[in-house]
Amino acid sequence: MLTQNDIDNITKSWALIVNDQLANMLKFYNRLFEIAPQLRVYFPDDMGRLAEKLGFTLNLLVTNLVDFDKLRPTLEELGRFHRDLGVQNSHYRYVIKALLYTIKNAMDIYYSEEIGQSWKRALIAVSTIMIEGSKKKDKSVGFFARLFGARNKNYKKYL
Ligand code: HEM
Repeated sequence: MLTQNDIDNITKSWALIVNDQLANMLKFYNRLFEIAPQLRVYFPDDMGRLAEKLGFTLNLLVTNLVDFDKLRPTLEELGRFHRDLGVQNSHYRYVIKALLYTIKNAMDIYYSEEIGQSWKRALIAVSTIMIEGSKKKDKSVGFFARLFGARNKNYKKYL
C-alpha cells in the first residue's frame, strides 16, 4: 500500500500540476489516444467536460490519500460505471501510462523517478479497486435499466 512518503510525494507534486489542471488533463487524453487509439471510440467528441471531471476526481483522490479506504465505495462504483461503458480491465494500464507521462511532463524539472513511482503505486491501487468493484454485483441498476442503457451514476452520492 501507499507509504507516508508516497503520500507526501503525490501531494507536493499535485500542487504543481493543479496550477494548470485543465490543460494537463487535455494533454492526458491526447497522450492516451496516441498510445491507445482504440480507446477513442469510448469517449465523446468534446473532451473539455470530461477533462474537468477527471481533474476533479484526481483532486479528490489526492486530498483523501491519508484516508484511502474511505474512497473504496466511490471507486468501486466508479469501476462499475466504467464496466457499463464497456471499458475492459486491460484498458486501465493505458490510462495509468498516459497519466504518468502527463505528470512527468507537467512537473518538468521537479520530476523525479521516486515521485513517478509513488504516483504509479497510487494509480495501480485506484485501478485495482475500480476493477474489483466492477466484478461485484451491481445492486443499483436493474436488468431493464441496463438493457435500456441507463447509466449508473450512483457513485456520485459519495462525492
Ligand atoms: C484510474 C482510472 C480511471 C479513473 C480515475 C477514471 C475517472 C473517470 C471519471 C471521474 C469519469 C466521469 C464519470 C461521470 O461522467 O460522472 C470517467 C468517465 C469515463 N471514463 Fe474513466 N477513469 C479511469 C479509467 C478509464 C479507462 C481505463 C477507460 C477506458 C476506455 C475510461 C473511459 C471513460 C469513459 C469512456 C468515460 C465516459 C465518457 C462520457 O461521458 O461519455 N476510463 N472516468
